[in-house]
Amino acid sequence: MAFINENYLKLQAGYLFPEIARRVKAFADARPDVASRIIRCGIGDVTEPLPAACIAALHKAVDEMGVRETFRGYGPEQGYDFLRNAIADNDYKARGVDIDPDEIFVSDGSKCDCGNLLDIFGPGNRVAMMDPVYPVYVDTNVMLGNAGDPDGKGGFDKLTYLPCTAENGFVPELPKEPVDLIYLCYPNNPTGAVATREQLQKWVDFALSCHAVIVYDAAYEAFISSPEIPHSIFEIPGARECAIELRSFSKNGGFTGLRCGFAVIPKTLKGYRRNGETYPFHALWLRNHTTKFNGVAYPVQRAAEALYSPEGKAQVKQLIAFYKENARLLKEALSSVGLLVNGYADASYLWVRGPSGATSWDLFDRILQHANIVTTPGSGFGAAGEGYFRLSAFNSRANIEEACRRLVDPVLFTPFK
Ligand code: MLT
Repeated sequence: MAFINENYLKLQAGYLFPEIARRVKAFADARPDVASRIIRCGIGDVTEPLPAACIAALHKAVDEMGVRETFRGYGPEQGYDFLRNAIADNDYKARGVDIDPDEIFVSDGSKCDCGNLLDIFGPGNRVAMMDPVYPVYVDTNVMLGNAGDPDGKGGFDKLTYLPCTAENGFVPELPKEPVDLIYLCYPNNPTGAVATREQLQKWVDFALSCHAVIVYDAAYEAFISSPEIPHSIFEIPGARECAIELRSFSKNGGFTGLRCGFAVIPKTLKGYRRNGETYPFHALWLRNHTTKFNGVAYPVQRAAEALYSPEGKAQVKQLIAFYKENARLLKEALSSVGLLVNGYADASYLWVRGPSGATSWDLFDRILQHANIVTTPGSGFGAAGEGYFRLSAFNSRANIEEACRRLVDPVLFTPFK
């Protein structure tokens, strides 16, 4: 008799984005007359082609794979040196941050890293979650039994929720009690907020005071415009002793379909054994990675490396500027109908407060039905997201301009009963 992992049965519904896709399909099937008008601003999936530097690197690497002398089989599980060195030099050394290439683990993306990382944390860790939050952090903890049971309010009874509200600028207060694992994401998905150096320093100091680990998701780092905002948690003194950073090439290089990202685990980050001795998480993750993973495809790693070439950097800059202009246009349209819009300045998401009385799913339905635009309901990211919706700026300019025209229809945001 094979037993199932019953924790999966505690997961609230389908994963948010497939659930949205299901509802959009149902709408499109019911209304074939408008199906082709649907503009998708729900999931944060890129629309623009890969940078030319990546395409050239991919072609070259594929050609190498076709020749005996340059063919490559299994690569190093943690990633090729050429990519780890490029990351260490450009993402860290260039910003005055000391990260050794050996502390970088190349993977097939941050979503997988988020979930897989939990393997190296023992059972019983007290977990602090921002609310609203990228659902993968919560769901993967639920799957492992770290989250407890549904609390009847859309959350889980063993998680420490950190409300991120307009009042605190979407950067949460420190928990009242010590915790062991803290998820932070800046620039934030879904609110688009950023955290200042001072705010992050408070979190690092707090984590050090309770020997906790911060999982810092910096997947949207390329969208930071404000010069004073840190791009990495490791810019904060003390973070090497309390943080893991996750990065992705999905949103800067447009790798959502190519798949590549990385985790940084400093060798100085220690966890605790039950007997009180410390043990480096780096060693555990190395063991995990080399046991469960055979590395990212060689051509994909070459494409990621190309993002750090002078041409690659210029092309990424252009891509980011393109999506940020989309965000600005959306912000302008939504503000013109009196809505409160957060996020667009340093992120690819707009976090929009709906009119009073509207639940997030009310807003989702109304905007889909009347404007044929797909949004993401704020409550899908947690109870504190209720009443909000998220718009993704990842889209073609033509779609964004059309979305802006439709979003200013006053019918959309009249008060709900
Ligand atoms: C989102 O829309 O929140 C993201 O695309 C999800 C992801 O990156 O996995």
